[in-house]
Amino acid sequence: MSSRCVNADKTPEAFFVWLRDRFPEAGGFIDVSAPPEDSNIGPLDNADANGTIHGICGDTMEIWLKIENGVVTDARYATNGCFSSRACGAAATYLAKGERIIDALGISPRDVMNLLELIPGVDIHCSILAISTLYRAIAEYILKGNISVEMK
Ligand code: FES
Repeated sequence: MSSRCVNADKTPEAFFVWLRDRFPEAGGFIDVSAPPEDSNIGPLDNADANGTIHGICGDTMEIWLKIENGVVTDARYATNGCFSSRACGAAATYLAKGERIIDALGISPRDVMNLLELIPGVDIHCSILAISTLYRAIAEYILKGNISVEMK
């Protein structure tokens, strides 16, 4: 297994640069009260994996993954939840992109919260919903028989 630290290069600064790229009209300022509407919003055509979870808060998250040679090459989400859940979906899919699926399973709700420094701690359940949905999508991929050398 790789000794690479999962998401080591995906810092809060890198995440907000990524968000800024999607809001060029914002002139470098991101209004955290506005949802990152086009930040990895799904669905994703021809997805290799898909997961949906209905959270205990009543909100639903869905995540689609494109996986090539064991690496998540694209990830999108959709939710009917609050701003925090949308931000967590954007962060979870941002973190998953570029990771081997075995490393994507190492992404945690804490990683999402670390990226979203302005999200209130009480909204940690939103990050749990996003990451649980990511895990479900990966589980679906594996359970469909896509277990191969990339898992080692
Ligand atoms: Fe439901 Fe945030 S309140 S996911």
